[in-house]
Amino acid sequence: MSLLGTVLGALWAMLPAYVPNNAAVLFGEGEPIDGGRTLGERRILGDGKTWRGTVAGITAGALLAGILNLVRERASGVFGVPTAALPSFPAPAALALPVGAMLGDMMASFLKRRTGRDRGASFPVLDQLDFVAVALGLTALVVPDWFDETFTPGRLMVVTVVTPAFHLLTNGVAYALGLKDEPW
Ligand code: CTP
Ligand code: MG
Repeated sequence: MSLLGTVLGALWAMLPAYVPNNAAVLFGEGEPIDGGRTLGERRILGDGKTWRGTVAGITAGALLAGILNLVRERASGVFGVPTAALPSFPAPAALALPVGAMLGDMMASFLKRRTGRDRGASFPVLDQLDFVAVALGLTALVVPDWFDETFTPGRLMVVTVVTPAFHLLTNGVAYALGLKDEPW
């Protein structure tokens, strides 16, 4: 696989895990998942994790996976890479990626609250990689064969390097547009 093919394939495979956070920012309001409950002195998750945001995020990720399946052949032509360079998503993978991403984000909030960080506080590295780690882990559990085929060592390397940059960039844009309170 060419370098371009590896990079495009890695981003393509991760798009259904990348987009949920952004959809959650756009649609997240209303009832918090923890219902305002606390654990010790602090909220279990906080007001930044809502039902609406979570459902919107999972829906957006799964829908995007379906769209990517439809445009895969055309996209490979546009980018000049073999169709095989761009993974297609079986239904369980199309769900596991965004569900894992939202779960990872929630686990990070749980950890942030337990370590005394208020909603919106930054937690470098955790903020950027939590959702990828859990999206990949859940997908590996749910569809192990697809996972092994799709997340080759080369693509995993690209994902690890590019994700933090991608995350900081999209959150920076959301902040600049006034959609998000902090740029992380
Ligand atoms: N959001 C949501 N539901 C989620 C994740 C995010 O509604 N499951 C929305 C919330 O409006 C949240 C915004 O997206 O404020 C930004 O997400 P994030 O940065 O993850 O939340 P924070 O507000 O920074 O809270 P935390 O410190 O818990 O990460
Ligand atoms: Mg945040």
